[in-house]
Amino acid sequence: MDPNDRRRMDDARDAATRAYAPYSGFRVGALAVAADGAEYLGANVENAAFPSSICAEANAITTAVANGARRIEAVYVTCLDDPGCTPCGNCRQIMREFGVERVILDGPGGEVQVLGLDELLPRSFGPDSLGSPRTSS
Ligand code: THU
Repeated sequence: MDPNDRRRMDDARDAATRAYAPYSGFRVGALAVAADGAEYLGANVENAAFPSSICAEANAITTAVANGARRIEAVYVTCLDDPGCTPCGNCRQIMREFGVERVILDGPGGEVQVLGLDELLPRSFGPDSLGSPRTSS
């Protein structure tokens, strides 16, 4: 793993320690890298009304977007309580919206796996399916 990957995954692991997961006890951390190189962290934030919970990847990506990013190059994902887990379908779709190219998954032994979004979400539906999306508002 290159040093930048290692540092980013370490930051995602730190974010996972700050997850609010009192119901599942399943802590997830994510780091989104925007097209300009800026990095945004996320952790899962659960809610007593379960569907109101937010996944770590969605948290990181939407934070990036709220800070002005419109294209996300890569997302690093780590699950402290189940090393090797992969992003849920909803998060894969959110990745698709913002053009994520690489998804870096943490592994049980600290090794990582790099996947293309087309592997995680083949034959997907995205902005191009609707013609030109509005990207500024
Ligand atoms: N979770 C994530 O944060 N990301 C995923 O891709 C899968 C699931 C969270 C949601 C919930 O807080 C907990 O993990 C158990 O599903």
